[in-house]
Amino acid sequence: MKTNVDKLKILDLNRRFHDEVEADNYDERMGVNHSILEVRNTVLELESVLGRPLPAKGRVVDLGAGTGNISIKLALDGRFEKVTAVDISSKSLQVLESTALKHGVEVDTIVSDMQKLPFETNSLDLVVGCAFLHHLPDPVAFMLEVRRVLKPEAPFIIIGEPSYFGAAVTNMVKFPLVLINRLRNSFSRERLFHWEHDQIDVHTFSHDDIAEIFNSNFKEIRVSSEGFAEPVIDQAALVPLRHVLPDYLPLRVIFTVIRKVARFTDYLIFNPLLPASMKVTLKISGSS
Ligand SMILES: C[S@@+](CC[C@H](N)C(=O)[O-])C[C@H]1O[C@@H](n2cnc3c(N)ncnc32)[C@H](O)[C@@H]1O
Repeated sequence: MKTNVDKLKILDLNRRFHDEVEADNYDERMGVNHSILEVRNTVLELESVLGRPLPAKGRVVDLGAGTGNISIKLALDGRFEKVTAVDISSKSLQVLESTALKHGVEVDTIVSDMQKLPFETNSLDLVVGCAFLHHLPDPVAFMLEVRRVLKPEAPFIIIGEPSYFGAAVTNMVKFPLVLINRLRNSFSRERLFHWEHDQIDVHTFSHDDIAEIFNSNFKEIRVSSEGFAEPVIDQAALVPLRHVLPDYLPLRVIFTVIRKVARFTDYLIFNPLLPASMKVTLKISGSS
């Protein structure tokens, strides 16, 4: 696991970054919406990662739920009796609550550090999460906590985690911008949340890391990967540029169009043609 861990800082920086920078912009930046089509696509994606249908009922928890990308869709899908979202960022969960209200669904929110899960042992029918594991200092210890709260045989599904290879490509592409940013920072006092997230995004994962984290504690582990152009362009260019360019509508529209074109290119070219080890985003599932 490539890691850059300063445990004391990570949790606080994650909370502050997602409260102060991401909560208000995340859905727009990532093109999150909760249309019927997106709900259906997300359920299909989760089922294809799991390799079988989602549980037909029960209690599901979305970990590192942020503004509700997954949990609101699962609430709209309607099969679970209770959908719960956990996140350290109270501001993100406020955005989640107002989006859920707009869509007429109920999602329970819990502001908590997910490294100690606020659930009883053997109590959950499904644990899901998107793009959160790489924020945690100790993924091995965290997954033991996930196993504790899952009912026997119940599954977990994790999507959107960065691969080691993808991060290496992204770092290479953004190197010139990193240099410019460091120069700029050396002349400025505004350093708090520049876009080099070393203490926020603390891991990238190779297939060996996945084996180390999951194999000894879960059954039926499945790993898949996807994406190249969209995640690389987003992380290496759009995210840094958003931090330095003025925030005005035409630019936001241009960025959205670039992401959509890149996503389509992935769908058409990179997902079918690239070998799994060269794709940028990892998805993992298993059961307790
Ligand atoms: C990249 S966002 C993903 C949000 C959402 N899952 C999605 O798919 O859009 C990662 C989320 O993990 C949360 N997070 C990071 N570390 C955490 C921790 N230790 N406990 C709880 N939440 C955490 C952040 O606050 C943030 O909302």
